[in-house]
Amino acid sequence: MTLRACIIGHPVGHSRSPLVHGFWLRRHGIDGSYGRADVQPGDLERFLAAMPGEGWTGGNVTVPHKEAAFRLVEVDDPAALALGAINTLWVENGRIRGCNTDVEGFLANLDQEAQGWDDRLGKVVVVGAGGAARAVAYGLLERRARSIVVLNRTQERAEALAGTLGEGRIEALPWAKARAALADAALLVNTTSLGMQGQPPLELDLEALPDRSIVNDIVYVPLVTPLLRAAAARGNRTVDGLGMLLHQAVPGFRRWFGVTPSVTGDLRALVAADVERPARGDPP
Ligand code: ATR
Repeated sequence: MTLRACIIGHPVGHSRSPLVHGFWLRRHGIDGSYGRADVQPGDLERFLAAMPGEGWTGGNVTVPHKEAAFRLVEVDDPAALALGAINTLWVENGRIRGCNTDVEGFLANLDQEAQGWDDRLGKVVVVGAGGAARAVAYGLLERRARSIVVLNRTQERAEALAGTLGEGRIEALPWAKARAALADAALLVNTTSLGMQGQPPLELDLEALPDRSIVNDIVYVPLVTPLLRAAAARGNRTVDGLGMLLHQAVPGFRRWFGVTPSVTGDLRALVAADVERPARGDPP
């Protein structure tokens, strides 16, 4: 029997998850498939309820369904419970269970690309206060960051994040304090969509950032965002966002297909080439 999984989102046409899981299915010679399910918000509950009967083994959940799916499936994963969102689900005994692997993806990417990054981890500056920022902050607390500063355009959202996740270790600062916040940061993470293809760049003055700081962007289209380019130009170590996408996919694949896949250089090259390919309709 072919094991079937999918990415559930709206829209889903640009998702790279089918490329990632398709690569692993071929590599491991598994009789499985991983497709796209474009599900309108009003249809999510019906779609999920039908999954066990329609022979799905599970799937990923992306924008805009991560929070709604969290409310519709069974969850006992501590990260998902803390974040109020899932990105992975599977059918178990006719019921749907969910978890959140974004935290694991974020941490594993830094572990692979910047070994030792969390040795006596000092202050971390997180830009943004949405769902991605919550996952990043949760992971940083897990790795015992000495302190976390959240900078966000809308300060109330940063304060809400600090209040619900913080344990007193997260401070929300206004944008105007960015320069001072960066002066002793060990790590800077952009979790906003700024710098993504088609979006304005993240305007952040890196002048005060210490040379030894690491800069991570969770945006991966393009691979080298204006933030990462500016950081690399002044000598900071940089980590792009592609590894987070690849690593967050590992636990789902293991659940659905029974094999733990690896994030290897050839997988990274395959997805990187797709990311860097001109979009359809762009001039060559
Ligand atoms: P996600 O769940 O993917 O993190 P989100 O909840 O929509 O998405 O959050 C997007 C983040 O990017 C927010 O921190 C948002 O700032 P606001 O809370 O002020 O909206 C930030 N963001 C998006 N566009 C932005 C822009 N043009 N300038 C500054 N921040 C922006």
